[in-house]
Amino acid sequence: MSRLVHEQGRNLMLFAAVFFLLECVRWYSVSVEGNVTVANKNQSELEASPFNCSGQEETNEGTVLFNQDVRIIHTVGIPRTGSTFQRTLLGLIANLRGSDQARNISLLKHHPPLKLSLGPSKMLFTTVNSSNTDLKQEGFSWSGGMVAYTQRYAEFTSCPLCEISRYQVIFNLTRDEEFQLRQYMRYWSILRQCCGSQMSKFMRAQIVGCSFALDFNVEGRIDYHMCGAMNLSAVEDSLTRTVLYSRFPKSHLTDNAAEARLKWAQKGDCKKSHDNVRAGLGFNLQKFDKHAFCNKLQRNVQVDFGHLH
Ligand SMILES: *[C@@H]1O[C@H](CO)[C@@H](O)[C@H](O)[C@H]1NC(C)=O
Ligand SMILES: *[C@@H]1O[C@H](CO)[C@@H](O)[C@H](O)[C@H]1NC(C)=O
Ligand SMILES: *[C@@H]1O[C@H](CO)[C@@H](O)[C@H](O)[C@H]1NC(C)=O
Ligand SMILES: *[C@@H]1O[C@H](CO)[C@@H](O)[C@H](O)[C@H]1NC(C)=O
Ligand SMILES: *[C@@H]1O[C@H](CO)[C@@H](O)[C@H](O)[C@H]1NC(C)=O
Ligand SMILES: *[C@@H]1O[C@H](CO)[C@@H](O)[C@H](O)[C@H]1NC(C)=O
Ligand SMILES: *[C@@H]1O[C@H](CO)[C@@H](O)[C@H](O)[C@H]1NC(C)=O
Repeated sequence: MSRLVHEQGRNLMLFAAVFFLLECVRWYSVSVEGNVTVANKNQSELEASPFNCSGQEETNEGTVLFNQDVRIIHTVGIPRTGSTFQRTLLGLIANLRGSDQARNISLLKHHPPLKLSLGPSKMLFTTVNSSNTDLKQEGFSWSGGMVAYTQRYAEFTSCPLCEISRYQVIFNLTRDEEFQLRQYMRYWSILRQCCGSQMSKFMRAQIVGCSFALDFNVEGRIDYHMCGAMNLSAVEDSLTRTVLYSRFPKSHLTDNAAEARLKWAQKGDCKKSHDNVRAGLGFNLQKFDKHAFCNKLQRNVQVDFGHLH
């Protein structure tokens, strides 16, 4: 008897599991097959959906699409997962699509904890270590829509410029736009890593003259950017002559003047930031002791064979 109940219970659970699985698949395939010209599909349907397919990370990559109702693009990131890269890229895209349609599209960048309510006029992008669960753990929650695209750290670091093609479908980027975005982001990435007060710590080590800064243990790292071997004013020239820099000179490079002091924002900032390091101003322009910095970084290099930033 108890065995029968047990069996029935198990069958019921199996049925429920299959039912929910099918519902999720159905819901997803509806989204995928639907008319992709209509972005953010049907928000009310989405909110009303009783089926929480969070196994799918509440992400609907390739099916949440930009449309003419979108006024706000949110980007929410775990710090140090390439959130500035995504912000810069989306800033350019917002300018492109905004100028197409002669309207302003706001780009808002956030870090958790945070609560967002989406809707037909909003899109959400995220950057995470490995999944959106990371963001939930840090206190980010949202309702009323799906994440349009999630940038994952391992994929991002292995090929930052490859990220750009993932935005093609979402924003209906033309081939020219995609190439122009890569043209811009290629040089921007170098300046992000090598200049401004958030430059790579290895560049800082080289400027300061840490004894181990030029050593196979450093130069052999995956996350080493060989900033010292590049003519960075030539890279600044290259960025400023790109198509998109000419169209949107200071497009979302920084959110405000305070941030513009910390990050590369215009030609000449590379030299300024390197001079700052020589003058003892480190990460985010905080005063630092060169000797202690070198010692600490050297210890980290010895123990750390993974990514430092
Ligand atoms: C999608 O919608 C557009 C505009 O409403 C329409 O022209 C097109 O035929 C639709 N495509 C499909 C596959 O339903
Ligand atoms: C995508 O853009 C092209 C022009 O580049 C346009 O012809 C096409 O209709 C657009 N598609 C959608 C789905 O908006
Ligand atoms: C969205 O879905 C709701 C509920 O299923 C439906 O009542 C409404 O007509 C749909 N709206 C559109 C634009 O398809
Ligand atoms: C979906 O389920 C997960 C855990 O099962 C929960 O944390 C999350 O809040 C749910 N999301 C919604 C939109 O109900
Ligand atoms: C966009 O915003 C700028 C500055 O806030 C404003 O001057 C301009 O009129 C806006 N353009 C449109 C089309 O709303
Ligand atoms: C994400 O990665 C950062 C940097 O490696 C780490 O400090 C943080 O704890 C990670 N967060 C989660 C939720 O895994
Ligand atoms: C670096 O590039 C700049 C700008 O193109 C150029 O003027 C300068 O001579 C170059 N410096 C060196 C050391 O080649």
